[in-house]
Amino acid sequence: MKIAVTGKGGSGKSTVSGALCRHLASQGHRVVAVDGDPNPNLGISLGVERERVEAMEPILNALIAVGHTHDDPTPDPEDLLRRYGVDAPGGVRLVATGKIERPTDSCLCCGSHMTTRQFFGELSDDDRIVVADLEAGINDLLWARPGANDVVLVVAEPSAKSVEIARRAREVATDLGVARIVVVANRCAGDEDLARMTEAIDGAEVLTVPEDPAVDHADHLGRAPYDLDPTSPAVVAIGALAEHLVRRAAPEPSPTG
Ligand SMILES: Nc1ncnc2c1ncn2[C@@H]1O[C@H](COP(=O)(O)OP(=O)(O)OP(=O)(O)O)[C@@H](O)[C@H]1O
Ligand SMILES: [Mg+2]
Repeated sequence: MKIAVTGKGGSGKSTVSGALCRHLASQGHRVVAVDGDPNPNLGISLGVERERVEAMEPILNALIAVGHTHDDPTPDPEDLLRRYGVDAPGGVRLVATGKIERPTDSCLCCGSHMTTRQFFGELSDDDRIVVADLEAGINDLLWARPGANDVVLVVAEPSAKSVEIARRAREVATDLGVARIVVVANRCAGDEDLARMTEAIDGAEVLTVPEDPAVDHADHLGRAPYDLDPTSPAVVAIGALAEHLVRRAAPEPSPTG
């Protein structure tokens, strides 16, 4: 299974992606976490130390080093994962596609985006789950271009702007032919928030993650909420999301008798 995580800036994509990966790994799945944000910080939400996150080299650098262009064959994603991935807690393998570091003459508009598309598109999910934390907004969803068999997780917090972007992201994912689109109503403070979000994103599968001071606290400390307080309401809700995604992805048991 491949899961593309999208939504407005600051809606909680990295928080949800990080805890989701840790839960999936703890349930025994092999997990690859792809940081598709050109300002990568998924590692923090996964529980990787800040210094190691900062030292991570993105895949894009490998491509620039060899003068790779879009006309060249895509490099072997397994090799890139081996060379550029780092081990995150729980056995999750983390890799960043691009990072804005300094001015460059190479193509900024498609640098990290094209790398995310190629890597997310070509990495095998035969025996593992790939979770891609995308750059904010709908643009990167179009770049990543998830397909019919992938899952799109649209993360929204209750603000009108965030909900509107979630509504459009869902439409885009539908147009891309994605069969399974799940909306995460993050930072929900109560039934009223949830009702508003569910109504705006009419008909979508919606799961709730509550507003949780423990998540903010972890963020201030630069720690993963999963490590700081695995029993906090948001982390527990993301665990339920992980189970839900895996359960629905499992093949139907064949009829017996
Ligand atoms: N359920 C929650 N309860 C409380 N705070 C939350 C919750 N989810 C996210 N936050 C806080 O919201 C902020 C944004 O979260 P996060 O970095 O995950 O968003 P993002 O969508 O990845 O942002 P960006 O678009 O910048 O990558 C962080 O300070 C985080 O701690
Ligand atoms: Mg983020």
